[in-house]
Parts: sequence; C-alpha cells; structure tokens
Amino acid sequence: MKERIDQIRREIENYQPENKEQVEEFRIKYLSKKGIIPQLFTEFKNVPKEERKELGKLMNELKNDAQQKFNDLKASFEAAEKKDQQKQDLTLPAYFQEVGARHPINILRNEITEIFKSIGFQVNEGPEIEDDWHNFTALNFPPEHPARDMQDTFFVDSGSKVAKESDQIALRTHTSSVQIRVMENQKPPIRSIFPGRVYRNEAISARAHCMFHQVEGLYVDKGVSFADLKQTMLYFSKEMFGKDTRLRFRPSYFPFTEPSAELDISCFICGGKGCNICKYTGFVEILGCGMVDPNVLENCGIDSKKYAGFAFGMGIERIGLLKYQINDLRLFFENDMRFLKQFESAV
Ligand code: DAH
Repeated sequence: MKERIDQIRREIENYQPENKEQVEEFRIKYLSKKGIIPQLFTEFKNVPKEERKELGKLMNELKNDAQQKFNDLKASFEAAEKKDQQKQDLTLPAYFQEVGARHPINILRNEITEIFKSIGFQVNEGPEIEDDWHNFTALNFPPEHPARDMQDTFFVDSGSKVAKESDQIALRTHTSSVQIRVMENQKPPIRSIFPGRVYRNEAISARAHCMFHQVEGLYVDKGVSFADLKQTMLYFSKEMFGKDTRLRFRPSYFPFTEPSAELDISCFICGGKGCNICKYTGFVEILGCGMVDPNVLENCGIDSKKYAGFAFGMGIERIGLLKYQINDLRLFFENDMRFLKQFESAV
C-alpha cells in the first residue's frame, strides 16, 4: 500500500495540465468521491493495526497535497484567463450583424393582402400540386378545350398511368384553383383572396418565368354585379398606386368568368401622359377579372340563380415590375444581395 501511495504521489507531482478542463479532470481523477484518493481511504479499513499510524499519516499528506495542487492550478488558470480578458481592446468597433429583410415579393404580397383585408376580405391558401378538376375542369375548361393551352402546364408524374386528361395531377398554373376549393367548402357570402405560387412551362426570360406568384380574389353573394367589381378594383388601385389612379376595363376572355375583362390603370409614372413604362399609351395592364361564370358556381354546389360573384387575378411580379420600375423579372429569383438590399427599409 505504501508503494501505491508513493506512486500516486509521483503521478500527482508530475501532472502538468494545459488548460482549465484538464485541471477539472485532475480533480475528478484523484479527489472526487469515486476518485483514487477517497478509494484509498476505503481500502484503509483492511490495513493491519500496526501499519495504520504510518500509512494514515502518509495518506492524509497525500490528500492534502493533492487538494493544494488542485487549488493552486485552478487559481493560476483563472488568473491567466482574467488577464486575457483585460487584454481585449474594448475600443474596437463591434461586429456588424446583418439584419434580415423581407423579400420584395413578400413585401408586395403583404401590401396587397392588407389592402383587401381592410375592406373585409379573408385570406385562404390552397395546394401547389393540384388535380385537373380544381385547376381546369371546375373552372369551366372542358377536356380538350384549346383554352387549356393558354396555360403551359407542368404535369406531375403520379406513378400510375392515367388514361384520361381529367385524372392528371399538375403544378397549379394559377391561383384560380383556390376559388374552387373555397367555394366547395364555404357557403356564400364569400369574400376572400388567395395569394400563392404558380408554375408554367415557359422559357425563362426578362418577362416570363416558370414559377411566379399570384393573388386571386373572389366575392360571391346575392346581387353582386360588375359595379361591385369596378369599385373594389378602383379602391385597390388607388391604395396600391396612388389616389389619382384611373381605371380602364378592356373586354377579354377567361373560361371561368363571363363577361371577362383585363384591367388597365392609368400610368402612375407619367399620370397618363405617356412614357417609357406605359409605352406611351398612358395605361398599364395589371390584372384579369370578370363575373364568375354560372357554370363555375354550379360546379361548386352554389345556386347560380341565387348567387353571383366577381373574381380577379393578378401577378405579384408584374405589379412589382411596374411599381418599382424593374425591367427584368429574373431579378426577383436570383437572390442577388445588391438587388434585395434595395427593399430592406420597406415593411
Ligand atoms: N387565372 C388567370 C391567369 O392566371 C387570371 C384571372 C383572370 C383570374 C380573370 C381571375 C379572373 O379570377 O377573373 O391568367
């Protein structure tokens, strides 16, 4: 036992920790409850009486020396650490933390949403992967109808071979699909907008992208007329583009609205006098709209004799290009910090 005590003593004397963690390891190894020294004390019980006095003294010395070494080492590492901290130059400028900001598409989406919320519209969302019924058929696009070609669709391979066009799954080509989902699940009056991402199989250019964002709107109630659509669009346009904005509705065609129209607003850059942005016409196109086709209401179980509705759909990127006078749509998706930083201060 005496030899063991000597050996431990030598070990302790030679122990050279390099950091605070190793000092702690030292404590655990030799001094903690299950450490080597307390272990020796447990074994002391078996020592023959004659040897106890001498060994007891040696063990106590060992324990005290180990404790002393630990205290000294701990104090010296702590002092060194303190000195290091004092060496830090507090006059150095602080690290600059970049603050995140909203993407311009989200800023616009929030702006549009807030305007419609302020006049009682709710917000709904639907899935980006859609079935044929919600994206086309219920919206009055009959199978094989050429109007389906207006929207270059990305079909999704569902794994099973589908014989009919009407069983196909696709990335939604417009947020009009959410109209159907909402009308299938809610009873009129319905006053809601549907922001979201849409996909079209188009070559990417300054004016077109295979993925972009839309906000769709729908109002269904008894006695809704084109006058309600006009007034809602006027309110939105003035809030979004300025109080002097004037509107122009041009007849158009969409399978799900009858009559259908394209909405132009007076150019907010030149006030209608003619400039680069409006290509010297005084007006710029911002969205498509119309009165919900009775077939669409019926497809969703809404009595078209009792109820009428209007709908509209706009591209968020298109609104952004106009509002911020951006000449290339691709900028929205490239995540170039020089572009994105220009919107940091906007909410
Ligand atoms: N879904 C159309 C598109 O993507 C936009 C649109 C036009 C939506 C007229 C409507 C509408 O609700 O009434 O081009």
